[in-house]
Amino acid sequence: MKTIIYNIGKLYTMKNSEVPLKKDALAKCEILENAYIVMNDDKIEAVGTGDYSQYVAECSELFDAEGKIALPGLIDAHTHLVFGGSREHEYAQKVAGVEYLDILRAGGGILSTVEATRKASFDELYEKSMHFADSMLLHGVTTFEAKSGYGLNLETEVKQLKVARKVNEDHPSDVISTFMPAHAIPTEYKEHPEQYVDLVINELLPEVKKMDLAKYVDIFCEDAVFNKEQSKKILTKAQELGYIVKIHADEVVPMGGAALAAELHAISAEHLMATPEEDMEAMAKSNVIANLLPATTFNLGKDYAQARKMIDKGLAVTICSDFNPGSCPNENLQLTLQIASRGYAMTPIEVYNSAIVNGSCSLQMNDKVGSIEVGKQADVVIMNAPNLDYTIYHFGVNHVAHVFKNGELVVEDQMLV
Ligand code: NIG
Ligand code: FE
Repeated sequence: MKTIIYNIGKLYTMKNSEVPLKKDALAKCEILENAYIVMNDDKIEAVGTGDYSQYVAECSELFDAEGKIALPGLIDAHTHLVFGGSREHEYAQKVAGVEYLDILRAGGGILSTVEATRKASFDELYEKSMHFADSMLLHGVTTFEAKSGYGLNLETEVKQLKVARKVNEDHPSDVISTFMPAHAIPTEYKEHPEQYVDLVINELLPEVKKMDLAKYVDIFCEDAVFNKEQSKKILTKAQELGYIVKIHADEVVPMGGAALAAELHAISAEHLMATPEEDMEAMAKSNVIANLLPATTFNLGKDYAQARKMIDKGLAVTICSDFNPGSCPNENLQLTLQIASRGYAMTPIEVYNSAIVNGSCSLQMNDKVGSIEVGKQADVVIMNAPNLDYTIYHFGVNHVAHVFKNGELVVEDQMLV
């Protein structure tokens, strides 16, 4: 089936010959005025400006964008989609100044979500995750990553990963799974963390690999969680088994996680709020993508990552939501981008390029998504705004009017179709 979207006021194609975008390239974007997109089933067949009459006869659907702007489907390269329960009971403590890691040390935080996730049934987790995936889609996100990490035992980690797999099958969005068995030391191993590291290495990583439930492995390298040596042991084993690795690094305390990401040639390192300059340089040399999570920083009341310094040093930066029940219970990537623009002093084009173009690279999906160009997936977001700057300037609201995923209209007038 062929569909044409016509009367697009401004089309931000985000088409680039070289990706990920670094330095000055991050500030540039092709903008087509009075544009159209022809979609043949799930693929983009033609993109152009002005007269589109030659395509009208062959298209069974004609969609009038009414002068609104269009851009590629948004990409969120870092979420913790599948979890049981919620953690609003910790919120008052946090605003009173109790530290995120102290709540974890006391058996709350991630560990409280682990308890709730272990108790939840597959169906409960599935319903909840589908709801969040819908919410992301309503905000324009058509491709996103989903980490496990709230099971910390084989049974529950597998349950989470199978939920993510079913969401990928049933939901319009593309969901890319990451296995995160080393997200915290489970309560039952509190006195023997090394035994848990051994369990991850000898049992969890090989079993999940056999089941082919995730391409990626992530770890939380942090004070009171996994130190650099333990992280290296786990990630090295993951690489031996054929996983691609990433690291939650330097979120609170600089523990050498970013340097380790560089040493292991990880695909990305996440957070990086406390990363020393020499470790940024090491990441740039090893082409590790910096997945920045500004809404988490905002919600933890911490200092923002030094994004501009990273860009100047030649790092490819991505902006992601980090949607999770603790440090960032927010699935609206537009809000994350608005926070990023202020917190990192990045222009609207820079934040969208980071999320969409560099996000597609971070998920190794840049051959399929991340730009509007012939041959790519027909993932298109139409926003009710005169230009992209407006969507960052007018913050805290949802600018998405319509979404096409794989050529199908999945959001119309801000409602799921
Ligand atoms: O990326 N920092 C570790 N993991 C998540 C938070 C998980 C949670 O608090 O439940 C993060 O911020
Ligand atoms: Fe995270």
